[in-house]
Amino acid sequence: MVNRGASRLRRVLILIFVAIFAAIIGPLLLLIIKPSVMPNPPNSAVQLLTEPFLQLPTPTSVRVVWFTEFAGTDHRVIYGQNFQHLAIARTSKLSRTQEDQFSLVGEQKERGQVYQKSTPRNIWRQEAIIQNLDSGDRLPYRVTSTHPNGTSITSEEFTLAPAPRPGQPLKILLTSDHQVMPMTAANLQKVQETIGRVDAVFLAGDLQNVPDRASEWFDDNRGGAFFPCLQGRASYQLEKNGVKTTYRGGEIIQHAPLFAATGNHEVMGQALPHLNLNEQFNDPRPQSAATKLYNTYAEVINPSNNQKIRQDWLKDHSFNTDTFREIFTLPTSSSGGENYYAVTFGDIRLISLYVTNIWRSPDPQARGRFQEQPGDLDNPQDWGYGQMIFEPIKQGSPQYQWLEQELASPEFKQAKYKVVMFHHPPHSLGENIVPPYTDPVQVIDRNDQGGITAIRYEYPQGRDYIIQALLPLLEKAGVHLVFYGHTHIWNRFISKTGMNFLESSNVGNTYGAYTGDRKRPVPEKSQEKYVVTGNPNGLTPITPTLSPVLGEDDKPLAYLSSNDITAFSIWDTATGLVTSYRFDTREPNSAVIKFDEFKLDGRKF
Ligand SMILES: [Fe+2]
Repeated sequence: MVNRGASRLRRVLILIFVAIFAAIIGPLLLLIIKPSVMPNPPNSAVQLLTEPFLQLPTPTSVRVVWFTEFAGTDHRVIYGQNFQHLAIARTSKLSRTQEDQFSLVGEQKERGQVYQKSTPRNIWRQEAIIQNLDSGDRLPYRVTSTHPNGTSITSEEFTLAPAPRPGQPLKILLTSDHQVMPMTAANLQKVQETIGRVDAVFLAGDLQNVPDRASEWFDDNRGGAFFPCLQGRASYQLEKNGVKTTYRGGEIIQHAPLFAATGNHEVMGQALPHLNLNEQFNDPRPQSAATKLYNTYAEVINPSNNQKIRQDWLKDHSFNTDTFREIFTLPTSSSGGENYYAVTFGDIRLISLYVTNIWRSPDPQARGRFQEQPGDLDNPQDWGYGQMIFEPIKQGSPQYQWLEQELASPEFKQAKYKVVMFHHPPHSLGENIVPPYTDPVQVIDRNDQGGITAIRYEYPQGRDYIIQALLPLLEKAGVHLVFYGHTHIWNRFISKTGMNFLESSNVGNTYGAYTGDRKRPVPEKSQEKYVVTGNPNGLTPITPTLSPVLGEDDKPLAYLSSNDITAFSIWDTATGLVTSYRFDTREPNSAVIKFDEFKLDGRKF
């Protein structure tokens, strides 16, 4: 009896122990096991940061790139008609991406709610090279990344293709100046709805506002960051006349390679951690000024005279395009890397140039376009040096010499279509075409005692490098189209020799056209006489051929400049036609309207 009783007690104790064990340890075990079997949770930490997109197509290959917020493992592209092929991705980490008090990201809806200062943000880039493709192939693909918690995340299915062969008809989207602006998502959504899949995107610079602010590329919480807009994952709400419409952008670059030019918003200024990202962006210093400062303090900055320390210091105290170049894999040139390059894409030879300067305010009290701030006169380290040019294009410069060689190359000469893309306008009704595109000439006014009373900057019209050096070279070489942006309007021109100019930058917003009574801001006192209305460089804007927007007097306008109507341009290489479309966001259910069309004749064979 005693033994039987003891045995029963033991069994009861064991049962109690098992129950306690199950109650405590079970959920812990489940927590450990669960991530590997659960579906993708709605948590940004275990999603891909972008959809995949295409880069650098060659006749037999193309690259697939995507971003994650984890280093992860087993990043791969699965592709082919039956998804029978596999390409392993190479992982790298973006070196300069940050958020700050002005970021609109995550829970931060107002200044400084989450971030009080510039704070590094960890982002990894995955890139796989898809090889052995046949010309004309278009294959389905998906990408997969594995999170450190074991979750495998797979994208939806998209299509990839190598570079098109000569003669293959192509539709090219010509766009620029997205910059997380209000109409960008609507614009790109209308591209997809109107055209369907395009074959490539030529983007003439200014992809976002501050290149090192990660959220402007990936997940700005207004819903209109760069990648979501070009991948059909935006969620940007526009309110017009009391009606709210949410636009998702277009599923474009998952299927079509993007070729971008370096605009002023791809250039980050002095990378000093005590500055917020806006201040860093707005404060580039000429390399010559950075070098002068370095030489003054070299023994303190770099006592061991280490070359790497010197180079890093000079970069951090001048300007750089590192984030732009880390995000994309663009074609390269020997002297300009990804900042200027040429590439053959089907019948097109595309030359992309690094022609852009810092934008500075015309305000006479600012560290501005035309003068230094009055309080900075005696402190050269605080000078802005006017609208400095980032990369020379003047005669004899490395970029100019490279361009001369490119224009003489068989790839260029034999191409049916020759297109040159850069950011700064050669002909425009917009504001930013004034002052002329040249190195600012510093003029220092002094009083009788030799003290500085003003520092001004002059921009001699006769030294405009685009007009004096670049365009004659392009005209002589028979370029068919010069495509650019920067002033956020749509207008086009044609030269006497038949070279076409198109600015199709009224995408997300406008900064206005300067015609009639509207005058560009210029200083009251300057030696140079700046052109305050019209195109300062001579050519007359062409009134859109199909359906121009009407002005207040009901007469057709020779441009489009609107914060309600957004425009995009599509070039069809089969016909040579460049067609521009407009969409009125005040009427969300209205049709897209073709408003202009012109033909690129191409080279005759
Ligand atoms: Fe710009």
